[in-house]
Amino acid sequence: ISLRKYNTFGIDVSARFFVEITGLLQLQKVLELKAYPKKFILSGGSNVLLTQDIDVLVMHINLKGISIEDETDSEVVLKVMAGENWHDLVLWSLDKGYGGLENLSLIPGNTGTAPIQNIGAYGVELKDVFESCTAMEIATGELVEFDQDSCQFGYRDSIFKNKAKGKYIITSVNLRLTKENHQLNTNYGAIENELKKLGIVYPTVHDVSKAVIAIRRSKLPDPDEIGNSGSFFKNPIVSKKTFERLKKSYPEVPSYQISKSEIKIPAGWLIEQCGFKGKRIGDAGVHEKQALVLVNHGNASGEEILDLAKTIQRTVNKKFKIEITPEVNIIR
Ligand code: EPU
Repeated sequence: ISLRKYNTFGIDVSARFFVEITGLLQLQKVLELKAYPKKFILSGGSNVLLTQDIDVLVMHINLKGISIEDETDSEVVLKVMAGENWHDLVLWSLDKGYGGLENLSLIPGNTGTAPIQNIGAYGVELKDVFESCTAMEIATGELVEFDQDSCQFGYRDSIFKNKAKGKYIITSVNLRLTKENHQLNTNYGAIENELKKLGIVYPTVHDVSKAVIAIRRSKLPDPDEIGNSGSFFKNPIVSKKTFERLKKSYPEVPSYQISKSEIKIPAGWLIEQCGFKGKRIGDAGVHEKQALVLVNHGNASGEEILDLAKTIQRTVNKKFKIEITPEVNIIR
């Protein structure tokens, strides 16, 4: 079957064997199938670039359900099954009056993959609301619990991209949200501006969500209209020395201080400076409003997107002596 509608880049590769997983027992049974020793796990498909047909068994994780695991007067812990769409969950939680997910509105993909890259936007990361997750060990079919510490969250990073890579399938995620005294994160410049534009002085969680949705819609392409995987690269973190050198030639370089000795530079800026913004080679392109986002204008192959990505990396490295690395999982 074609995997086109199973990846937000809209890459048309096919899977020789495909199974949709809707229950934990079924998941266990499928993992035991000796006829398919190797598996490829596909969830919302929002953070992968597929570059060729897949010969091994593709398991599409579509476990559904949201339940309340624990509750006090001020907080609630939700248990969310892996196949729940992330943005639908955000809207559902806001509708119930829960706070914590508003800055993470409109992020494509499913809940089960959110911990893998510790999704983040506008000053909030998944780890800020994360309580724990349950994952099935692929080798044994056993369910294992990961708490906040054992996930080793970092910037677009977790144990699931490192030591635990390829070893587990996340089946559900527990999130701790507030029922009152919501802690709003509106310090991010773009959110402040958007709220001002809307004339809102005392924002609610709904207002913050609305602001984030407006900002994202204005900058980021909707995967239903134009294939993409959000930011294709991570923002590089450089030393103070590198930053000072850069600043000498480019006084206007934007930056965020991460620690005493480290500075994060927006890769989108580096890429735009190299002249790639809005560029297109065949159907592979760089988004016209956000240079960090690579897009599929229709029928680009994964290889074509990858070639463009490599050209961008090389050019940025040549011009700035800075390496940028993909945040998207490249499958080849
Ligand atoms: N910029 C440019 N040109 C561009 C794009 C950005 O000059 O084409 C500069 C501007 O100075 C801008 C700054 O970069 O002020 C930051 O841009 P933006 O606020 O759009 O954020 P970003 O650093 O490009 C990161 C995340 C996004 C997240 C936003 C908001 C990464 C890799 N990306 O992007 O996450 O939504 O911040 O918090 O950290 C994603 O991971 O898929 C994603 C969209």
